[in-house]
Amino acid sequence: MTTPRKLHIKSYGCQMNVYDAQRMVDTLAGEGFVETASAEDADLVILNTCHIREKASEKVYSELGRLRVAKDEAARAGREMKIAVAGCVAQAEGAEIIHRAPTVDIVVGPQSYHHLPELLKRAKENGRALETEFPVEDKFGFLPQPKPDAIRARGISAFVTVQEGCDKFCTFCVVPYTRGAEVSRPVAKIIDDVKQLADNGVREFTLIGQNVNAYHGEGPDGRAWSLGKLLQRLAAIPGVIRLRYSTSHPRDVDDDLIAAHRDLPELMPFVHLPVQSGADRILAAMNRKHTADDYRRVIDRFRAARQDIAFSSDFIVGFPGESEEEFSATLALVTQIGYAAAYSFKYSPRPGTPAAEMRETVSAAEMDERLGRLQELIDSQQSAFNRAAIGTTVDVLFERAARNPGQIVGRTAYLQPAHVMASPDIIGQVRSVRIDSLERYSLIGELATQSAPGLISQTIGA
Ligand code: 5AD
Ligand code: SF4
Repeated sequence: MTTPRKLHIKSYGCQMNVYDAQRMVDTLAGEGFVETASAEDADLVILNTCHIREKASEKVYSELGRLRVAKDEAARAGREMKIAVAGCVAQAEGAEIIHRAPTVDIVVGPQSYHHLPELLKRAKENGRALETEFPVEDKFGFLPQPKPDAIRARGISAFVTVQEGCDKFCTFCVVPYTRGAEVSRPVAKIIDDVKQLADNGVREFTLIGQNVNAYHGEGPDGRAWSLGKLLQRLAAIPGVIRLRYSTSHPRDVDDDLIAAHRDLPELMPFVHLPVQSGADRILAAMNRKHTADDYRRVIDRFRAARQDIAFSSDFIVGFPGESEEEFSATLALVTQIGYAAAYSFKYSPRPGTPAAEMRETVSAAEMDERLGRLQELIDSQQSAFNRAAIGTTVDVLFERAARNPGQIVGRTAYLQPAHVMASPDIIGQVRSVRIDSLERYSLIGELATQSAPGLISQTIGA
């Protein structure tokens, strides 16, 4: 028997990269690779990169510097280490990586992960291999399914890619270039994936896509199904306890999706709905194709369908030409909506995007100051939201043993971590928990006496 080769994947950026990393592991398992936690003893190291902002991209080159040392050390010990760069930086800067980083053996774009075994062979024969095409065949048809033990090892919550790419072309964003045009997977394939995961113990499914609610995959009836309809179908699969989806665009919230929130108890009342800015002139310059009021109306439709719904969002401060008044409009929108969580970023010009050509930049000092103010507001909303849980009873899906002995940790509907002292038997179950206190971002509580899930649960609102 040959000894298994060791694979180490380091992922940056979004949930799609986490999912892609697992599919790469599944693909390479067929080549005799097993995962290892340390890069130093790996035979193949894959950096699964993110290109969304400059800081994310730069991490690749600093990490490659560290890996070069590990590769040289391995060579001195008579061992060969191959280094691959995958993800969106590979897609956007593949040729440059090959040129700038001689230590890299393979560069592979997100649409070509199913070609990894062949690229490894090519790298062995020719020294190096680069593939950043958008192949005509659908990679999902070729990526192998994870084995049952791999699914179980990954826990009770899983990502399922339902669509990839984006046709929105927000002027600041590289995604339409790195992930390509919007493509939805057929409903039947997604059902198969979810069934297989559910059969192996997965209980929470997050449907992911760069613009997930633009989903329009082919249904079993030959028609394009909306995300709402897909969610409705998936909720009927035995073992599916919780459904989520991410990331949505406000323009693509249709009545089916709202109805899904109204009708499906499995669909969690927590929606990530990025708005980026609260100022209409900036939204137009970003090519978001909606106004701040359009966004408010979308939020109102969700709230009318499910009163306990809460939101998170993404914001960019310092988009070219953003005035103090325009930034204040963002603060006003945040104050009005009231978020359970939100992410905010300083605008980062990305090569090849229209906004990178815009001249009216906002100074670094101004950006820092605005980011600070926005984050303070978001933090105060998040803390208030978390504090509101104290004294209530909430449903928690338990995931794993916590660091403290005897404690089990799970998540609420709003993804807040919740800790209780309990037997590990509750892992994989939804249980009612009375929340007693808050430690930083974690809720601490006790199992409510009634064990039937959801029976006496009172939900907390935004
Ligand atoms: N600069 C700053 N933030 C960006 N994002 C996307 N592109 C940029 C950029 N060029 C942010 C947006 C998006 C999130 C994933 O990253 O807020 O929703
Ligand atoms: Fe990027 Fe999202 Fe805009 Fe698509 S909708 S271009 S992924 S910010």
